[in-house]
This record gives sequence, structure tokens and C-alpha cells, in this order.
Amino acid sequence: MSEKKHRVSRRQFLNYTLTGVGGFMAAGILSPMVRFALDPILKEEAGQDMVAVAQVKDITTEPQRFDFKVKVKDAWYESEEPRSAWVFKDENGDIVALSPICKHLGCTVNWNGDKNNPNRFFCPCHYGLYEKDGTNVPNTPPPAPLDRYEYEVKDGTLYLGKAKPRGEA
Ligand code: FES
Repeated sequence: MSEKKHRVSRRQFLNYTLTGVGGFMAAGILSPMVRFALDPILKEEAGQDMVAVAQVKDITTEPQRFDFKVKVKDAWYESEEPRSAWVFKDENGDIVALSPICKHLGCTVNWNGDKNNPNRFFCPCHYGLYEKDGTNVPNTPPPAPLDRYEYEVKDGTLYLGKAKPRGEA
């Protein structure tokens, strides 16, 4: 049995070398471009900043609606979106800030919106009801309490963050 020598021709050697060097250069050029293109998608969503919404001295025990805007970043595009909150002080003097978005199908709830159900939040879309603290009234469509905003008070100003389901805020 004769042993065949496997020799690399000059042409093959040049092909291998140029392919390797070319691939290396292409990776060096393309990887920053790919990284730049994908970076906003790969980045974890930054925590939504707290937004100044009201002066604490203006907050009463009666829920009041405050409108404000938040900056929203959607990959490469940044915009401002309107938000609202129903804000009041509870019996302990603690601030409560509720999302006005109904937990049934997302309509907007109003305080004292139904004269047959005073001192409750009312959703006109399917007659949903919530108690003042945001708890959904049994046997009405909403399946869960209204979300609560995270909040902080600094120098007499109320700042709101994200609205979270009850128990998370
Ligand atoms: S969306 Fe509010 S009750 Fe249906």
C-alpha cells in the first residue's frame, strides 16, 4: 500500500489564506454595524422615570384626575405619551394614585361617573365598578383592581412612575 502525500497547491494555499483574511476583515467591519443596529433592541428597557404630576398640598381625600406626559422609547424612536391618574389621600393620609384604565377591556374609568353608584369609580363601557381604593366590585365585568402608580414625594411635589397591578406597586 503506497502512502499518498497530500500536498497543498499554491492555488489552494492562496485561496485558503485570502478566504481567512477576508472573513476576518469582514467580521471586523460588520460586527460594529450589526451591534449598532441591534443595540436598542438588546438593551433592557430602562426604568421609566418618575414624572412630576401634582403639588401634594392640592391632593385631597376626594379623587382628582391629573394628566401628565411620559417619555416612551420604542427601540430607535422616542416620544411623549399622555397618561392620567386618579389621586387622593386615604384615611391614613397616604397618597393613592390609581390608573384610570379599566381592567376589563381598557376603557377609562371616572370617579362618581354613575349617579346610582356614588363614591365609586365607574367604567361606562360595560358598567364596570371599582371601590374608592380601586378594588373591583364583584359581579361587575372588571376581573381585577385598578393598577396603582409607584410614587414618591420630593419637596412637596408628587412624582409618579409606572402603574403596576395591585400587590406589585
Ligand atoms: S372596559 Fe370597563 S367594564 Fe368593560
